Amino acid sequence: MACTILMGTQWGDEGKGKVTDILAREADAVVRYQGGNNAGHTIVVGDRTFKLHLVPSGVVRENTLSVIGDGTVIDPWVLRTEIRHLNDLGISTGGIVISDRAHLIMPYHRMLDGLQEAGKKEGRKVGTTGRGIGPCYQDKAARVGIRMGDLRYPELLREKVCNGVQNAKKLAKAFGVDLEIDEEQTFRDLTEVGNTLIPHMRDAPLLLNDMIEKGKNILLEGAQGTFLDIDRGTYPFVTSSSCTAGYASAGSGIGPLDIDRIVGVVKAYTTRVGEGPFPTELKDDLGKHIQDRGHEFGTTTNRPRRCGWLDLVMVRSSVQWNSITDLALTKVDVLSGSGTLMVCTGYRIPRKEAEEHGLATVMRYFPSHLELLAKAEPVYVKVKGWGDMTDEDWRMVKGKDDLPGELLEYMGLIEREVNADVKLLSFGKGREQTISIDGDLP
Ligand code: GDP
Ligand code: IMO
Ligand code: MG
Repeated sequence: MACTILMGTQWGDEGKGKVTDILAREADAVVRYQGGNNAGHTIVVGDRTFKLHLVPSGVVRENTLSVIGDGTVIDPWVLRTEIRHLNDLGISTGGIVISDRAHLIMPYHRMLDGLQEAGKKEGRKVGTTGRGIGPCYQDKAARVGIRMGDLRYPELLREKVCNGVQNAKKLAKAFGVDLEIDEEQTFRDLTEVGNTLIPHMRDAPLLLNDMIEKGKNILLEGAQGTFLDIDRGTYPFVTSSSCTAGYASAGSGIGPLDIDRIVGVVKAYTTRVGEGPFPTELKDDLGKHIQDRGHEFGTTTNRPRRCGWLDLVMVRSSVQWNSITDLALTKVDVLSGSGTLMVCTGYRIPRKEAEEHGLATVMRYFPSHLELLAKAEPVYVKVKGWGDMTDEDWRMVKGKDDLPGELLEYMGLIEREVNADVKLLSFGKGREQTISIDGDLP
């Protein structure tokens, strides 16, 4: 494995947690490199379900370090609760490492997240998770953020907390709100929770590069997905971090040339939580059927996820932008017995726009601006679906040869259209409902 990135190719919730857990079998460390507790990654082991928000999905594997890297944003109260919860479940948390360069989400970031959303008019709201992610990354970019490492230096920490509270009050005032936050109390609360996390704190790049020198296997676990990325995504309906593979290096401190493999996780259909455009969205009964059958409700906020057909314009763009070497295709079981399936392979745009932008009238890659996307009509190919399969039918699937022909054709269509091979197939929540194709993964 050496150094592998695993990341989402769509709008998040592709099944990254499950696939991470499978690949983590061979990993010495699993690293989160961006995002915070806006993520919700689910792992099912036997009859136990783990929903992780900040701690990497390798934590349920013994002897695997779980590193929360430089590029993440950490709500220390949430992290403490998550660690306690894992302990209660009998999961060892001694291998959790927290980068001292990671930024801290403060209670006022959460409040500002709410105010910023409330201040936007209908149609412009992002539908954030409300976890303070955006305001924390704003402070980071403005160079006034509080980092984990500051917890070791009380006087510096006090000064930063006071500044943070004062800034937050000014910002809130602009929304007509008086924030009732006591600076000294905030400092004391942070110190108290921080003291429980300090034992986990390390210079993460130093640790990871030392592991690489020793030939250890490292798995970099992306959060969110390519189309929530602040640059590549459907801006402004995105998160505030870079979710693409390029950032795995920046957010972990592992040099780009040390990365050998990039696995893109693709859900067999498309989902999105929150606001923003969604060209292949199904607003009818079929969308509802997929939502029910796939249990498409947010792991973090429990909001219903919008559902639609597989969009290969998105996946093709993801493969290109992220240098994806292997695909992991998930949730194919959900589409069983759905009859004819539609797969989007291009976006048709009016001739006038095509000429103005210097583009073909059928776009193969995702448009750079939402105004152009609004004019795009998905071009579909119709494919024959595979029949309904019982749990017992799926249990009999041990390799590619046991799959229904129509499913193999669906996979073949994806591979041809996006120019990457499916190396892992997931057809249920559990570990055993997974096969590697051609023996390559995990
Ligand atoms: P993540 O954010 O990418 O880690 O994905 P989530 O955990 O938020 O959402 C994926 C959901 O689908 C979880 O409830 C998983 O347990 C579930 N899941 C993952 N793979 C499969 C699969 O192949 N089939 C089915 N039916 N469920 C799956
Ligand atoms: P995982 O890692 C799906 C979405 C939110 C909102 C937008 C911005 O589980 O795939 P934020 O709180 O980040 O400022 O919200 O991004 N979003 C996700 N959607 N899966 C996620 O993570 C997400 N994390 C953020 O719904 O539309
Ligand atoms: Mg999720």
